[in-house]
Amino acid sequence: MFNPQALMITGGAGFIGSHLVRRLRRDYGYCGTLVVVDLETYAADRSRLTEVESSIRYVREDICDTEAMRAIIADEHIDAIINLAAESHVDRSIEAPTPFVTTNIAGTCSLLEAARGCWVGRTDVRFYQISTDEVFGALQAGDPLFTESSPYAPRSPYAASKAAADHLVRSYYHTYGLPVLISSCSNNYGPDQHAEKLIPKAITGFLAGRTVPLYGDGLHVRDWIYVSDHTDAIYQILRTGTPGSSYVAGTGVLTGNRMLLEMIITLLAPRLHCEEAALRSLIAAVPDRPGHDRGYGIDASRLHHDLGWSARISLSEGLALTIDHMIGVHTH
Ligand SMILES: NC(=O)c1ccc[n+]([C@@H]2O[C@H](COP(=O)([O-])OP(=O)(O)OC[C@H]3O[C@@H](n4cnc5c(N)ncnc54)[C@H](O)[C@@H]3O)[C@@H](O)[C@H]2O)c1
Repeated sequence: MFNPQALMITGGAGFIGSHLVRRLRRDYGYCGTLVVVDLETYAADRSRLTEVESSIRYVREDICDTEAMRAIIADEHIDAIINLAAESHVDRSIEAPTPFVTTNIAGTCSLLEAARGCWVGRTDVRFYQISTDEVFGALQAGDPLFTESSPYAPRSPYAASKAAADHLVRSYYHTYGLPVLISSCSNNYGPDQHAEKLIPKAITGFLAGRTVPLYGDGLHVRDWIYVSDHTDAIYQILRTGTPGSSYVAGTGVLTGNRMLLEMIITLLAPRLHCEEAALRSLIAAVPDRPGHDRGYGIDASRLHHDLGWSARISLSEGLALTIDHMIGVHTH
């Protein structure tokens, strides 16, 4: 078991990163040094870390600044890095790919270089790259779910930039012996997610009586994982994953986007004391986005068998938790 003494989390003011930081302190009993690095792009919200502010060191910095990363790793005696810093929104990557190349590829390379320079010859360290199932491309009806051995076939600039980063991370393992880990997870959701993402966008729209857009025929399927299930997987992989290995994480349950909106409506209508039909009338079909992958889905058997992890929160439970949190925020 690997027990980090000083952990650096990049992108820690983002959605998943902030959940991970809070859970490390609150639920996982992690007592070592915790340094959070975040550039604070539009996607960051530092208030997500308020609860743990006094027990972390927070650094507003760009992962592309190799010297700054090197200084943090050396000064804080960092022995594990979890890289969650990224441009993460597919639609934005279609409009403007360059920032995705800069942060997701060059930024990851910069962090790898900083780690390589500081960790020469060390095996008691970990560089952990958080990737996405979108690197595997699109599932078509009847295809098996993605596993660790699925070929890379990214189809959006976002997915391509994450795939490139994974290749770089793997190359540092083979070329320099850097002890790396990679995990590719399916679509996350939960409290505090940025309103541009599908589930918070839909819930906010229904709460405000606004149009809720649905791409194309609404039959695109996704494997939705509640964010705390993902952070559990990350912590487990960090401590017990085999260096040089990749893992895939997900629930294996595929849900179409129209069905997802129906589930949200079923949970929201009684909470808002309104008819389901009134909420349903807010759904508006919009033209499909270019290169929109029909499906993603994960077979997480390896993570289950090798490391004992499985997702625990069902989609309806997770949606209820998310909706109740958002109603709380909406009404205060
Ligand atoms: N959200 C998902 O469904 C999902 C699924 C699988 C994998 N992932 C991956 O998990 C990671 C986190 O995703 P998220 O949804 O929390 O994203 P997010 O967009 O909410 O957060 C990303 C964070 O990274 C920071 N950041 C961006 N560029 C930076 C830079 N150059 N230097 C330092 N910080 C920078 C942002 O300020 C932000 O706080 C990403 O790598 C993403 O690819 C996300």
